[in-house]
Amino acid sequence: MEKKKVILDVDTGSDDAVAILCALAAPELDVLGICTVAGNKGLDFTTDNTLRVVDLAKSNVPVYRGCREPMVCTLNKNRHGGFDGHRTRKDENGNEAEYHKDHLDIPAATSTIQPEHAVFYYIDTLMKSEGDITLIPVGPLTNIAMAMRIEPEICKKIKEIVLMGGGCRQTNCSPAAEFNIWIDPEAAKIVMDSGVPVTIVPLDATHKACTTAEEAQEMRSWGTKVGTAVAELVDERILAYRLAQPMENLYSAPIHDALAVCAVIDRSVLKDVVHTHVDIDIGGGLSDGQTVVDPRYYPDEPINCYFAFNADRDKFNKMMMDYLRTYKD
Ligand code: RIB
Ligand code: CA
Repeated sequence: MEKKKVILDVDTGSDDAVAILCALAAPELDVLGICTVAGNKGLDFTTDNTLRVVDLAKSNVPVYRGCREPMVCTLNKNRHGGFDGHRTRKDENGNEAEYHKDHLDIPAATSTIQPEHAVFYYIDTLMKSEGDITLIPVGPLTNIAMAMRIEPEICKKIKEIVLMGGGCRQTNCSPAAEFNIWIDPEAAKIVMDSGVPVTIVPLDATHKACTTAEEAQEMRSWGTKVGTAVAELVDERILAYRLAQPMENLYSAPIHDALAVCAVIDRSVLKDVVHTHVDIDIGGGLSDGQTVVDPRYYPDEPINCYFAFNADRDKFNKMMMDYLRTYKD
């Protein structure tokens, strides 16, 4: 089986961590590099967390630090009102669960980042490539958009972008937007207008693929460092979601980013996929960062992506757990 060449772009983050572990374990993928970006946390935290995960996986995949700020949206101080996009709440006992901690509860990293900036790593790697690399961004799209702006020729060299982000009937950080897009709407628009084949794995799909407390307990039962670490992350996410964004099963939570990775390996984990036009609201108003999905059979604008409105929960979670189970201490 020929491995698919991929580059991950992450804002690690609890679900990013699971996505990285799945990608590094998957025999179907050749992870060429992992790029970090500010998003869930500041760049230094997301980069440190990424190194921690790569070390936990006993991998030597190179990590490249990327952009510390979104392209332009923070220049307008009124645009996001200082809100960081992550709402958490306290439970009846005053416990406050976070979706993402500054430092993941896994051992400090011993590996270090590569000297090249992620944006130039993308340009160098893609321009030298045979056009056979898939990008899997699961955080804000700042790095990829900046690379496209600096060297537009890379758009002809990207095989596909499979991104976790956006939402049509599901949002999270505002009534209209999903976090990865909302943090850097201009970057998302550059990617959507680039002409590169794009598959969007949005909240409409990830919220239908939630991982349960029972599945977390099964991971813990393996007695491995990876199993235990991911079980802890999932349990923390379940509490945070139960308090702030309750899912249909109150004792489950979406592991958004891992679904994007599994979709690159087996597209059938995505369901109700439409081929349509998606634009990004960069107007800075109430719907800033919205992924505007054209529902019409004949959109006005050229079709530019596949958008998944559903997912196969059981197939996805089986894939994820099968990959995680392969890690031995
Ligand atoms: O909205 C969910 C996305 O935002 C996930 O990628 C999560 O890690 C956060 O980055
Ligand atoms: Ca993420």
